[in-house]
Amino acid sequence: MFFFLLFLALTFDTQGVLPKRDHRENITDAVVRGKHIWERNDCIGCHTLLGEGAYFAPELGNVYKRRGPDFIKAWIKGQPTGVPGRRQMPQFHLTDQELDDLVAFFKWTSEINTSNWPPNIEG
Ligand code: HEC
Repeated sequence: MFFFLLFLALTFDTQGVLPKRDHRENITDAVVRGKHIWERNDCIGCHTLLGEGAYFAPELGNVYKRRGPDFIKAWIKGQPTGVPGRRQMPQFHLTDQELDDLVAFFKWTSEINTSNWPPNIEG
């Protein structure tokens, strides 16, 4: 009985805390469009987002804080780098509007309260 009540208490606590952590009130139309671009192009087939996804390429949940908007857009436009010995990312031919939407999505993900995960800015 004790553990059942504890389970209920923690469940209610989680339900109360989660909406604040993911700051869903800041989900703008641009963030939604950016998420769709992320899904349509299967970015998660190579990258992780907050730990979910494939481990071929860097974690992008905090890429907005790590690199900033201009770097992100220039990076995506400039692929593939062709640098020998480095893993390559394809060219997606995204428009400037689509790049802005992706950046809005990455900004939003970078502001999710993840209890300081990943532990360093490169992770
Ligand atoms: C085929 C695998 C692959 C796919 C699909 C892919 N990427 Fe990448 N991406 C990479 C690799 C590999 C790197 C790192 C390359 C390097 O460091 O030289 C990278 C790096 C990046 C970086 C820079 C990360 C940093 O820390 O500097 C960003 C931003 C990025 N990708 C965004 C995207 C987005 C947005 C999509 C979907 C539209 C996407 N990627 C799809 C392979 C991929």
